[in-house]
Amino acid sequence: MKFRKFLAAGAGAAVAISLAACSGGGAGSSTEESASGGAGGGAAEGGTVGVAMPTETSERWIADGDAVKAGLEEAGFEVDLQYAADDIPTQQQQIDNMITNGVKALIVASIDGTTLSGQLEAAAAAGIPIIAYDRLINETENVDFYVSFDNFEVGVQQATSLLVGLGVLDAEGNETGDEGPYNIELFAGSPDDNNAGFFFNGAMSVLQPYLDSGVLVVPSGQTDFDTVATLRWLQETAQKRMEDILTSTYVGTDKKVDGVLSPYDGLSRGILTALEQTGGYPVAIADGMPIVTGQDAEIASVKLIADGTQFATIFKDTRKLADQSVTAAISYLNGEEPEANNTTDYDNGVKVVPSYLLESDIVYADNIQSLLVDSGYWTEEEVASGQAS
Ligand code: BGC
Repeated sequence: MKFRKFLAAGAGAAVAISLAACSGGGAGSSTEESASGGAGGGAAEGGTVGVAMPTETSERWIADGDAVKAGLEEAGFEVDLQYAADDIPTQQQQIDNMITNGVKALIVASIDGTTLSGQLEAAAAAGIPIIAYDRLINETENVDFYVSFDNFEVGVQQATSLLVGLGVLDAEGNETGDEGPYNIELFAGSPDDNNAGFFFNGAMSVLQPYLDSGVLVVPSGQTDFDTVATLRWLQETAQKRMEDILTSTYVGTDKKVDGVLSPYDGLSRGILTALEQTGGYPVAIADGMPIVTGQDAEIASVKLIADGTQFATIFKDTRKLADQSVTAAISYLNGEEPEANNTTDYDNGVKVVPSYLLESDIVYADNIQSLLVDSGYWTEEEVASGQAS
């Protein structure tokens, strides 16, 4: 899909990573060194790297897969890239096949972070380094490295954007003195995805004081993670839950939804549909649509933000993440340890996994151009049409 785009963006991504890692000597640069002639043994020898991605139903994972593949190929590797249609046995089988076929390294974005122990044991026994991509793999010692974003901070940003939209915080994140009360509803991601808890805890670290003081209220009463979680991040599940909340708590009363914490753009679109169709809210925030947050800067949602229907999303530059995973794979294949910038926060139940975390940004209507278009992530035409070209 965006093969060309990600290749073209490679140099910029490497520079950005070097800046982010300035104290550690530029993690991005080793990709370039290896790519331009294979300085180290492993990279020069080539071989196949297995890349296991969860699903093609969300465009971010397609972009991730394309970018990882392009980066590895540029560095002289063959790539076995597989998508598992969000089906756990399929992902297990794909990884089994990769191991049987003798891959030199594995890069895995898991569907359920606890279901790959058998595969990873076999991989470790075969001496294959295992990099968890974006989602941590839990309950196994056989995961060597983790590349992701600062997932707690993503949740903080989601809650911040909600408060900005409601008017409790100003654009700089300072309190305005507005005391509400505002009615909000909460959604979380898939309970088997380790990230979902980080996003939710990050968001609640910001929202809880306002819930305690009464500036924010959750009229449905549904606030604990297990109740608000959305298995497999499914849009239709979120839409159905929003419809149920509207019917049970709002429709036919004088209560109004002011905002919804949503952890992912796909869920946000389901929530917005329910608000419009079941709740009877107008499509524009300016006319009364509640403030809805998001994540991933999916193109359909970026258009909704530009149109004034969704309030915000979180941009995680998948080009940088892909670059970082390639850098880590090459380090292992050169017999080195990849550079980590976090060695404390990601405990998978068996060990703390050394991690490289990237930064994310809040996207509002007024910075779509600077964050997404100027960086080459989406073109103006794509934003205008709401479709990736
Ligand atoms: C990723 C998010 C994504 C979600 C649903 C999470 O693991 O970190 O970026 O929105 O999965 O695909």
